[in-house]
Amino acid sequence: MKRIAIYPGTFDPITYGHLDIIKRGLTIFDSITVAIALDTPKQTLFSVEERLSLIQKVVRRMKNVEVKTFSGLLVQFAKRQHACAILRGLREVSDFEYEFQMALMNRRLSKRFETVFLMPNEKYTFLNSSIIRQVAQLGGDTSDFVPPEVTKALQYKFQSEK
Ligand code: PNS
Repeated sequence: MKRIAIYPGTFDPITYGHLDIIKRGLTIFDSITVAIALDTPKQTLFSVEERLSLIQKVVRRMKNVEVKTFSGLLVQFAKRQHACAILRGLREVSDFEYEFQMALMNRRLSKRFETVFLMPNEKYTFLNSSIIRQVAQLGGDTSDFVPPEVTKALQYKFQSEK
């Protein structure tokens, strides 16, 4: 039986920190499905189509990685995908409360999945999508933090705003 993990998130945009978690996840699971949540209260910079296309581009050379979108509850999606786990990254202590709440809620909703937390390489612990968006908006260089396709998309997004 294939061990599939769902890696859910907003990915607005995907960063090297996310990619690091996917690579680490692949050492444990047979395949990882990156799952972009459609039902999120967050206002996103990139449309869901843009985020899907960016992630597809940056994982295209990685084996056993799929990218999908989902609406509704994560646990329902995970069940439809025949997944055995939910994968999340844990960067620092401040992530813990939010992640703990989500993991426990998901467990209340379905006992079928474990949430597995992986820590990214230390060089990515300060990275998050919102900081990247801010740096890009203010004209900073994001190329150390996100793949070239994402840097390009950020530049385009903020140039067209001017
Ligand atoms: O990258 P994010 O924004 O921290 O990801 C949050 C996400 C998408 C994983 C979470 O909001 C989610 O699972 N949404 C789907 C709806 C759901 O199942 N909610 C109940 C679990 S808390």
